[in-house]
Amino acid sequence: MKTIDELVSEGVAGQRVFVRADLNVPLAGDTITDDGRIRAAVPTIQKLAKAGARVVVASHLGRPGGAPDPQFSLAPVAARLGELLDAEVTFASDTVGDSAKATVAALGDGEVTLLENLRFNAGETSKDDAERAAFATELAALADAYVGDGFGAVHRKHASVYDLPAKLPHAAGGLIVTEVGVLKQLTDDVKRPYAVVLGGAKVSDKLAVIERLLEKADRILIGGGMAYTFLKAQGHDVGNSLLQEDQVPAVQGYLERARERGVEFVLPVDVLAADGFPDLKTKAPADPVTVPATAIPAGLEGLDIGPESRKLYAAKLADAATVFWNGPMGVFEHPDFAGGTRALAEALAESSALTVVGGGDSAAAVRTLGFADDAFGHISTGGGASLEYLEGKTLPGLAALED
Ligand code: 3PG
Repeated sequence: MKTIDELVSEGVAGQRVFVRADLNVPLAGDTITDDGRIRAAVPTIQKLAKAGARVVVASHLGRPGGAPDPQFSLAPVAARLGELLDAEVTFASDTVGDSAKATVAALGDGEVTLLENLRFNAGETSKDDAERAAFATELAALADAYVGDGFGAVHRKHASVYDLPAKLPHAAGGLIVTEVGVLKQLTDDVKRPYAVVLGGAKVSDKLAVIERLLEKADRILIGGGMAYTFLKAQGHDVGNSLLQEDQVPAVQGYLERARERGVEFVLPVDVLAADGFPDLKTKAPADPVTVPATAIPAGLEGLDIGPESRKLYAAKLADAATVFWNGPMGVFEHPDFAGGTRALAEALAESSALTVVGGGDSAAAVRTLGFADDAFGHISTGGGASLEYLEGKTLPGLAALED
């Protein structure tokens, strides 16, 4: 895989370089609530601009469904990118239309422009190879070279991620080089003990990664909504907690295989429960009670791991040399149920292991709870992408940069 440093050393001054970034940040109206992905994109853009390239940045934002939709405009992102670069970032109000053509044509050496949301064009996400290729051809006309740096989107077979690099000289950006380097330490070259913490709502989203991790990890800690399907699979009552009944047999199979392979599964021993899902808008007190995880009373819903579980999880991480964490431990968006996720983040922050926080949601969770990025070894910008990498899948956006 050619890297940006090689591309730059060959000379990019005066060239139009297309940078496919992942600037898919959470927005509340026009306000960016976590700019982590924009900050992560800055070094590559800066390196190219300093080398005199005319930098054409492009990204998706949300899932607008192939047509322009103002609520998914990248305009607020262009403004934030300009602040972070301390330079003007011009903004094209379309992707391959008159505005994009004029904005790119107006770029001087070392200047930066951002195109409007790539997903405003149906060709970006099309399953039809010809439709994607046609959009990629139009994008290719805007540039002389391509840098793939949107790690969070490399698992998508989309025009700007997969088809476009084949049409231009291409290289991997600094973010992709870093992300892949860290993920290799979780797959090929693992320092042990290797502990993995998985949370989030649905166990069905994590089946493939659990399957793979049973062969790699020494210890798997489970939290979040998915823990209740594990507790049910062990024969416990889970009250009104989130449950994927149809996944119980699969989970029983994993627990059995883990026993055979000597992989330790760690489940909550107590949980914070309430008589309904909390109101995330008003954040009204939910009056949680702590109950044993093995006997959640009927009518109560488990919404976070309890105090004993937090201690247990911290102890299980204390001697780890490598930790990967994806998914919150509870409904962290509500103050009554943020304690489990906060305790886990604290355990990682105190650890001397290589600690990797995987994913957009998990990254947003730790930042929302006030942790600095450098409290962890690495915060990945890719949720789905890092999980699919750990599953051992071929990621289209990485494969496209290989040749
Ligand atoms: C993400 O947020 O995980 C990436 O930006 C990919 O977004 P997508 O799931 O809408 O393709």
